[in-house]
Amino acid sequence: MKFFIDTADVAEIRAAHDLGLVDGVTTNPSLIAKSGREFKEVIEEITSIVDGPISAEVISLDAEGMVREGQELAKINPKKIVIKVPMTGEGLKATSIFASEGIKTNVTLVFSPLQALLAAKAGASYVSPFVGRLDDVGHDGMEGIDQIRTIFDNYGYQAEIIVASVRSPLHVLRAALIGADICTIPFSVITQLAKHPLTDVGIEKFLADWKKGQK
Ligand code: E4P
Repeated sequence: MKFFIDTADVAEIRAAHDLGLVDGVTTNPSLIAKSGREFKEVIEEITSIVDGPISAEVISLDAEGMVREGQELAKINPKKIVIKVPMTGEGLKATSIFASEGIKTNVTLVFSPLQALLAAKAGASYVSPFVGRLDDVGHDGMEGIDQIRTIFDNYGYQAEIIVASVRSPLHVLRAALIGADICTIPFSVITQLAKHPLTDVGIEKFLADWKKGQK
């Protein structure tokens, strides 16, 4: 499973990249706003750090505006930039236009397997079901991932499933068990993944035994 980092904070991206854990990056308008930086400038810097797909989201609500914005963003780095498009009728129209122009898309704000199916049919390169936000309203977000995996496998859709809105290591574990292609993970969760109390206890014990043996 590929790991994307879900942030527009370049310090976090560099830190996760140093761990060898960044196959790509997803951003969204809230994350860009949180970074306090100019949109294109941050995206450009991210492309200089990460050798992989980098999602940049459009803010227009009509297909024409989405396509205009997306074409501009794609120019930053045609190989790496993926245009993030919302899962709406207009978003689907824009997705099929981008597909015909060879521009990669990530259909975002997906909350049901049927929405994922529509995105794949429209030619999306990636679909992003938001599991954490579904959990927040009492649904099991990961159940939807399982169904999307089955649907895509049934029909051989090439769109890659990005498990998004990840809140805990358990989301990552379940994504890997289901066979999701990608998990886009906040930095705080990436750091949790490596930790285990028994690892720390084990290191302490090895070091203590080592010191005893040196006397
Ligand atoms: C996905 O690409 C989104 O950026 C993200 O995962 C949204 O997550 P949130 O629900 O934590 O805002």
